Amino acid sequence: MLKGLIFDLDGVIADTARFHLQAWNQLAKRLDIVLPPEANDALRGRSRLDSLNLILSYGNKVDAYSDDEKAAFAKSKNDLYLELIQTLTPEDILPGIAQLLRDAKAQGLHMSIASASKNAPTILQHLQLSDAFDAIVDPAKLHRGKPDPEIFELAQQALHLNADEVISFEDASAGVQAIKAANQFAVGIGDAKVLHQADYIVPSTADLSLDAIRQAFDA
Ligand code: BG6
Ligand code: MG
Repeated sequence: MLKGLIFDLDGVIADTARFHLQAWNQLAKRLDIVLPPEANDALRGRSRLDSLNLILSYGNKVDAYSDDEKAAFAKSKNDLYLELIQTLTPEDILPGIAQLLRDAKAQGLHMSIASASKNAPTILQHLQLSDAFDAIVDPAKLHRGKPDPEIFELAQQALHLNADEVISFEDASAGVQAIKAANQFAVGIGDAKVLHQADYIVPSTADLSLDAIRQAFDA
């Protein structure tokens, strides 16, 4: 029986994935690295350092910098990202999400956040959604990032539920892989070809309907 929902944040609750990409693009330019089209999905869901290493790998520059230099690059990306998210307001909650959260609450479902972002609490504050969730996984405590299932397992445990009692939402292929590795029901939001491992796929958050997802979950 369905008892809980678990949400990724960037690209699911708010359109912040584009700010991450914008900030990474600026750093890549500075380092003379051109991001390939697949970076748009590959950078989603990955921790700050994993993302930086992926970007450096696109330029064959993984070993070109010291750990201190890499830390400085990651900080400058995050400084720009923090500037970009300053402008966020509740208007930036993605279409369909506020209704989904209201419906879930009315149906007594418990909800948690499984975001790799250390900025998730700040973003939720800007969106005035800090109180909407029962738990937020602290990504600093993770041993492994998405596609490892750990973050979704912790988000499920925080709700005191079993894997077959939750539905998890993701916009990244690494995230969908993590959900499936956690044996949970995966809702993918985005390109069906990229998110093909999900149990239920919609092109955008505007297409999310709790009733329809519940039907797929029960089937
Ligand atoms: C994920 C994003 O939610 O968080 C990634 O999809 C990002 O793009 C990751 O790299 C880490 O975010 P932050 O804010 O801690 O650098
Ligand atoms: Mg995401």
